[in-house]
Amino acid sequence: MTKTYEPLQSVRWENDELILLDQTKLPEQTEFLTLSDVKQVWEAIERLKVRGAPAIGITAAYGVYVAVRSFASATVDELLSEVKKQADYLATSRPTAVNLFWALNRMVRRAEESAAAGQSPAQIKQALLKEAQEIQAEDERVCRAIGEHALTLFSDGMGVLTHCNAGGLATAKYGTATAPMYLAHEKGWNIKVFADETRPVLQGARLTAYELQQAGIDVTLICDNMAAKVMSNGWVQAVIVGTDRVAANGDVANKIGTYGLAVLARAHNIPFYVAAPLSSIDLTTPTGKEIPIEEREAEEVTRGFGRQVAPNDIKVYNPAFDVTPNEYVTAIITEKGIVRAPYRENLQALFEK
Ligand code: MRU
Repeated sequence: MTKTYEPLQSVRWENDELILLDQTKLPEQTEFLTLSDVKQVWEAIERLKVRGAPAIGITAAYGVYVAVRSFASATVDELLSEVKKQADYLATSRPTAVNLFWALNRMVRRAEESAAAGQSPAQIKQALLKEAQEIQAEDERVCRAIGEHALTLFSDGMGVLTHCNAGGLATAKYGTATAPMYLAHEKGWNIKVFADETRPVLQGARLTAYELQQAGIDVTLICDNMAAKVMSNGWVQAVIVGTDRVAANGDVANKIGTYGLAVLARAHNIPFYVAAPLSSIDLTTPTGKEIPIEEREAEEVTRGFGRQVAPNDIKVYNPAFDVTPNEYVTAIITEKGIVRAPYRENLQALFEK
C-alpha cells in the first residue's frame, strides 16, 4: 500500500500574511506565529523559530516583501534602495546557511529586473511576493528530486542514520536528508531511521524524531554519543545529513556533530551522504575554512533541557556548525543528480548543466 505524506508546513503565506510554525515549541506545542514586520522575521530566524537552511531562505524572502509592502516610496529608486537595505538587515540574522543570502540576492535581483522592465513601485512589490512564493514552490520540487536521486542509493529494510533536522520542517516539503525516507515510505519500503538527538538544541529529538514518527516511519531516537555503538551493532548502512553550505571543494558545513559522524562512518565503512540543493552550494567560498561558523549563546548548553545543567559562570564553547572535510563525503546528492569526488570539478559542472 502506498502512503502519502501530509506534513506540518513550517512556512506559509496565507491571507496576505506570513505564518510560521514555531519550531522552538515542538513537539510539546503546535503554535503558529503571524509575522507582520521585518524585525519579527529577523528574530524568528535568529531565535530558531524557523530554522534549517532552505526554510530560513524562504522565510527571509517573504521577509523582504513584508518589509517593503507598506513602504510609501515616491520613486522606484527609493523602493529599490529600501529593498536592499531590508535584505542587508535580514542577512545579519544568521551567518552559516548560504540559502539565506542566496534567497535575499534573488529578491534584490527580482526587484531590479522589475524596475528595469519599467514596472511601478506597486508592481515591483507584487513581483517580490511572487518571487518568494516561487522560491518556496521550487524548494518543494527540489527536495522531491533530491529524494528521487537519493532513493537510488537506498534499499528496502536498510538502516539509515541522520543528524539534526534536514526534514520537511527545514524546507518547503520532504526535507533534503529525509526526502528519500519519505519517498521510500510512499513506496511501502521499510527504512529504519536512527535520529541523533543533536545537542545542544535537540533538533533531532524534537523535530526529526517527531516528523518521521508522525509520518509513520520507523524511527529510533539515540543520543549523539550512541552513534558509534549503533554503527558497530551493524544497524546502519548509510548516514545521510543535510547541509547549510557546501564549499567549492566539497567541504560541508552542517549542524555541530556532523563531522564526528562522518569520521565514525568512515571507521565503520559506511557511506556518508550529504543531501544538498544547489541553493546550499556556494562556489564563491573556496573551502570549508572560509565558511563562517555561527557561535551561539552559552545558555543553549548550560540550560539545555529547560533547567540548569552546568555550574554558574562555566566557560562554554558553542559552535552551531562544523565542517566535514570533503574526503569523508561519499557523495553529495542534489536535485540535478549525485555528485562524487573530485568535488571541485564536479560541483562546478553541476552549475553549467
Ligand atoms: O541550526 P539549525 O537548526 O538551523 O541547523 C540546521 C541544519 O544543520 C540542517 O542540517 C541544515 O540546515 C539543512 S536543512 C535541509
